[in-house]
Amino acid sequence: MAGLVVAMDGPSGSGKSSASRGVARALGLRYLDTGAQYRAMTWWILRQGVDLADSATIAARCGEPEIVSGTDPDSPAIHVGAVDVAGPIREDEVTSAVSAVAAVPEVRARLVALQREIIGAGDIVVEGRDIGTVVAPDAPVKIYLTASPEARAQRRSAELAGTTAEAQQAALARRDTLDSTRKTDPLSMADGAVELDTTALNLDEVIAEVLRLVKERT
Ligand code: DC
Repeated sequence: MAGLVVAMDGPSGSGKSSASRGVARALGLRYLDTGAQYRAMTWWILRQGVDLADSATIAARCGEPEIVSGTDPDSPAIHVGAVDVAGPIREDEVTSAVSAVAAVPEVRARLVALQREIIGAGDIVVEGRDIGTVVAPDAPVKIYLTASPEARAQRRSAELAGTTAEAQQAALARRDTLDSTRKTDPLSMADGAVELDTTALNLDEVIAEVLRLVKERT
C-alpha cells in the first residue's frame, strides 16, 4: 500500500473523524485532520483580536502562526507554535468562528500547501471538506461521507456536553450553508468519489465499508 492516500470528505457529524482514524489504524497509515488546522488558525486569529469580518487582515496575517499537526491516528496532536490547542479548538468560540476564517482564500492557500507537504509521499488517511476536490485530487480512494441531519446532530450532541440535538442541528445547518456556499473550494463531492451514507451504520460498519473500497481500488 506504499504511497496510498485515502481522501475522506463530508460535513460535520457524518462520522469522518472516527472512521478516518479507524481506517488509518487498520491499515497502519498516518492520519491528518485538516479541520483541526482550520480550527487552529481560527483559534490564533481570535487570540490576536482580529475582527472575523475583516478578511483583509485575516488574509494578511494568516502566514504568521506556526501550525503543527501530528499524524498518529491514536493521538492526533495539534499545536500552534509550542501551544497545545487540541482542547481549545473544540470549544464553541472556535467552532462558531471557523467557517468565516476557512472562507478566506489566503487561509486556504496556506493550509492546502501545508497539507500537501504533510501528505508528501502518501501512506495517509486525510479528512476534510476539499481533500478529493483540491488537496489530493489524484488520491486513488475518495470517500464522501454523509448522514441525515438528525443523525449528524445526534452524534454531535453525544460528543459535546451541555447541548441538545436540536441546538446542534441548527448549528450544523448554519455551518453547512457557510461551508458549501463559500466562493473558494466549497464542500462538494469530488469526481470519482464514492458516497457513503452512514445514517444507519455503526462505526465498525463504516470502517469495514471503507476498507472494502480501499481494497477494491488499490
Ligand atoms: O471537520 P471540522 O468540523 O473540524 O472542520 C472545521 C471547519 O473547517 C469546518 O466548518 C469547515 C472547515 N474546513 C474546511 O473548510 N476545509 C477542510 N479541508 C476542513 C475543514
